[in-house]
Amino acid sequence: MKVDRRDVLGLGMAATASAVLPARAAAVLPARASAESRFLWGAATAGHQVEGNNVSADIWLLEQVQPSVFAEPSGDACDSLHRWREDIAIVKALGLNCYRFSVEWPRIEPAKGQFSQAFLDHYKAMVDHCREQGLAPVLTFNHFTTPRWFAAAGGWEQRDAADLFARYCDKVARAMADGISHAVTFNEPNLALGGRWAISAPPPEFEARMAACLAAAAKASGSDRFSVLNAGDPAPMIPGITAAHVAGREAIKAARSDLPVGLSLAIPDNVPVGPDSGIERKRAEIYGPFFAVMGGDDFVGVQTYGRAFVGRDRDVPAPAASPKRADGKEWYPAAIGNVVRYAHAATGKPVLVTENGIDASDDSLRVRFIPEAVASVEKARADGVPVLGYIHWSLLDNFEWLSGYGPKFGLVAVDRTSFRRTPKPSARLLGSIARAGGTRT
Ligand code: BGC
Repeated sequence: MKVDRRDVLGLGMAATASAVLPARAAAVLPARASAESRFLWGAATAGHQVEGNNVSADIWLLEQVQPSVFAEPSGDACDSLHRWREDIAIVKALGLNCYRFSVEWPRIEPAKGQFSQAFLDHYKAMVDHCREQGLAPVLTFNHFTTPRWFAAAGGWEQRDAADLFARYCDKVARAMADGISHAVTFNEPNLALGGRWAISAPPPEFEARMAACLAAAAKASGSDRFSVLNAGDPAPMIPGITAAHVAGREAIKAARSDLPVGLSLAIPDNVPVGPDSGIERKRAEIYGPFFAVMGGDDFVGVQTYGRAFVGRDRDVPAPAASPKRADGKEWYPAAIGNVVRYAHAATGKPVLVTENGIDASDDSLRVRFIPEAVASVEKARADGVPVLGYIHWSLLDNFEWLSGYGPKFGLVAVDRTSFRRTPKPSARLLGSIARAGGTRT
C-alpha cells in the first residue's frame, strides 16, 4: 500500500549518547540585531527527521509497533544529533544566513516533569554555534512530535495540554531565547484539518491500519489511548493546540519580550473553481482557528508545496491544461508568492516563508523550481508585502514521515550508511541567490 505522506496528511488521517557541549557565554556571540535586520535566506530541518533515535517520541513508537503505517522506521535518520556542526557548516558555506531547526520536546522532557539539562545544553549549543557562524537560528518548538507520555495521556485533548506545552516552552526559552532569531511555536498545526477538503478520502484499509497502529501504541504505553495530532480526527485537538500556542508564546515572551514569535501554517495557493467554490469556507475552517489566536504574534510562517483547486465542498484535480511533472503533480513554483500575499492580507502580519520546496529525486527540477519560487516572493515584496525571509525545505534528504526515506526534498544528499553529506547543484544555486541578495540584483 503506497501512500504519499503529504496527500495522506492532507486527508487528516496520517501520523503522521548526544554531542552535548558546554553552554557558551552569550557575550561571545555576535549582536543578534545584525542578524535580524537582514532578509533571511535559509534552509530548514526538523529534529525527528534528521537527528535519529528519537526514542521518547510518540512518532518513534508509531514507527515501531505492529502494524505500523510507516513505510520504515526513522532509525539513525541523518545522525544530525551528532553531525549538527557539519549541517550548520554546510548552511554557512552555501552562503545562506539562516538555519531553521527544531528542539525535540521528547528529548527535553522524556518523562513528565523530568527535564534534561543535557539536551537543553545541546540545543543551546546549536543556537550559539549558529550565531558564532553569523547565522540566524529560527527555532521550532514543536515540529509534529510530542513525548510518548504526552500522547499516551491524551495528547492535545488532555485538559492541561496547554500548560504542559507552556512549561516546556518556558524551559527552552529560559535556556536559549537570547540567541534565537525567530521562535515558531508550532509547525503546521493545521495540516490535518485539510483532510476534509482533500480531493479523495483515504483508502479504508489505510484507516483500519492507522486505527490498529494507534491501538498498538496505546497498549505498548499501558494506556487506553494514544493521541497524536496527525493521526485521527484533528477537531477535538485544535482547541488544545490553539491554547498551547498562546500559552507557549506567553512563556517565550516572558523569557525575552523582544523575541519575535509566531507559528507556521500549511497553506497551498488556493484557487477557486466555479461560481460556487467553497474557498472562503475552506480558509475559515483550516486557517481561521489559528488566525484567531495570532493577535499577539509577531509574524506568520507559511509553508507551501503547490496549488489547491477548491470546488464547492472539496478540492478538485488541477486543470488538464496546467503544466505537470512526470509524477502527475502540477508544476507551479510561483504558488509561494501568492500564499505570501494571502497570509499578509488575512493577518496583517509580516510573513516568514518557513518552508517551500519540492520532492524531486532529479535535482534539476529543484534547480528550476527555486528561482521561480523566489521570484514570486520577490514580486510580492516589491508590491509592499512585508516578507522576513525565504527558508527552503529541506536542508537534507531526510525522514519523510510515513513515506520513510523515499522522497527527496533535500538541497543536500545524505548517504544512508556513511551519513556523508553531498550538496546538490540546487544548494549552490540557492546559496548564490542568497549571496546576491535575490534573483533580481
Ligand atoms: C513538514 C515537513 C515535511 C515537509 C514535506 C511539511 O509538512 O513541515 O516536516 O517533511 O512538509 O512533506
